[in-house]
Amino acid sequence: MELVDLADFSVDSLEGTNTAARWLAERLEPGAMVCLSGDLGAGKTTFTRALVAALGSPALVSSPTFTLVHEYDGGRVPIIHMDAYRLASGAEWEAAGLAEYLEGRNVVLIEWPEQIADALPEACWRVTLTDTGPESRLIHISSPLGGGRGGL
Ligand SMILES: Nc1ncnc2c1ncn2[C@@H]1O[C@H](COP(=O)(O)OP(=O)(O)OP(=O)(O)O)[C@@H](O)[C@H]1O
Ligand SMILES: [Mg+2]
Repeated sequence: MELVDLADFSVDSLEGTNTAARWLAERLEPGAMVCLSGDLGAGKTTFTRALVAALGSPALVSSPTFTLVHEYDGGRVPIIHMDAYRLASGAEWEAAGLAEYLEGRNVVLIEWPEQIADALPEACWRVTLTDTGPESRLIHISSPLGGGRGGL
């Protein structure tokens, strides 16, 4: 039987989002991929900021909407942060170097994974954020089925 690790956090502050990010950080292994879903402003970049800190990196996290890719070092594993919002297809994403990043021993985080679903591996941690108020969010996290890029 597949074991699925999952959690639901109903948070009312940034500190609550930090707590959810720490829960995930404890489970991420080198080679893991994390798909971050949610509407505009739901908190994908903010969750990434919390996750990067929880992985021990002092890097300043900002949205890679225009640059497509940011890399953060200094934590227990190198982190690649991507934003597919502006990409039309998986082919475009391949050109941006996704395959190379996925072959490495880093943790790969991607915002708007739905944009390039055809280019993504199935084995991905899923984080879904829902805005329920000015500072409150529902954060659903589930592990990849069958391991692989989940690093399980
Ligand atoms: N508990 C919370 N968790 C996450 N973000 C929060 C929370 N409370 C308030 N916010 C605010 O909500 C906003 C979320 O913006 P953010 O850029 O992280 O969203 P996003 O999902 O990455 O958007 P985009 O689709 O444009 O990339 C930030 O201004 C953040 O400070
Ligand atoms: Mg963002």
